[in-house]
Amino acid sequence: IDPRLDLEAEIVRLKKERNAVLLAHYYQEGDIQDLADFLGDSLQLAQQAKKTTADVILFAGVHFMAETAKILNPDRIVVVPDLEAGCSLADGCPVDRFRAWRAKYPDAVSITYINCTAEVKAESDYICTSSNAEKIVRAIPEDKEILFAPDKNLGRWLEQKTGRKMRLWQGSCVVHETFSLRKIISLREQHPEAKLIAHPECEEPILAMAQFIGSTTALLKYTQSDDAKAYIVATESGIVHQMRKASPHKTFIEGPPEGNCACNECPFMRLNSMEKVYLALRDLEPRIEMPAALRERARVPIDRMLALS
Ligand code: 13P
Ligand code: SF4
Repeated sequence: IDPRLDLEAEIVRLKKERNAVLLAHYYQEGDIQDLADFLGDSLQLAQQAKKTTADVILFAGVHFMAETAKILNPDRIVVVPDLEAGCSLADGCPVDRFRAWRAKYPDAVSITYINCTAEVKAESDYICTSSNAEKIVRAIPEDKEILFAPDKNLGRWLEQKTGRKMRLWQGSCVVHETFSLRKIISLREQHPEAKLIAHPECEEPILAMAQFIGSTTALLKYTQSDDAKAYIVATESGIVHQMRKASPHKTFIEGPPEGNCACNECPFMRLNSMEKVYLALRDLEPRIEMPAALRERARVPIDRMLALS
């Protein structure tokens, strides 16, 4: 594409022309967040996707999120900037292994984190996100065993919160497991006034030190309503863009990864770019498609989640 093209203006123009809505997750780069019609966490984005009447949903997030949008609103065209934008949690839970795991415990109820493929959703009893997981665990009768997949850190945190023992799939997020405990401890010594806030996908020692734990939206709201002046933010660094916009007078320190890399940026989320957003709107490609039978089976546990949310 012509390097002189004003991508921002073109995206705004094409959104109107295509009657498209741009849904973006907080882990997108700032420029994409600023152009979004709706910005949110996984649950809010699913709820928006379900109710939109736009002809096209352009989903700036990762594959499982766009798939969920298609499952909830199949008559819309759902396009993504990059089909390769996956998720380590979804990759670590292939459907054949998941099916075999479930078959070993036929009487158990399965709650699966939304970060999984449509195939795995279709084999699950309930879907959850980090913002409603506790409620969903508490909704399962006490005498039922729970299989929780795929994030072991979120699972362990839920066990602690609810006092409910679950059988945990051993998956994790490549971003949240690389935060450095050593560097966080040293940052806290340098900034004793700063509060540590974390996403529940972080590892246990970091969660144990955190003063607040929650989904991306919950973390953002906390920084707006709380009276601390500074925060160390242990989640993907994209959200800091919104935190700074919402509370410009506060200091936000990005959670430090171990090693000298930008590993606090999700390598999947960051495959998306303004150029790819523009191309997806221009060409209405790449699209999310799936067989109707799969879509309908995957919808059942998502609807159960939405009813409880
Ligand atoms: P949220 O549901 O909190 O937005 O989290 C999504 C995600 O992928 C976290 O890594
Ligand atoms: Fe998946 Fe982790 Fe990226 Fe979230 S941050 S999309 S859990 S790899």
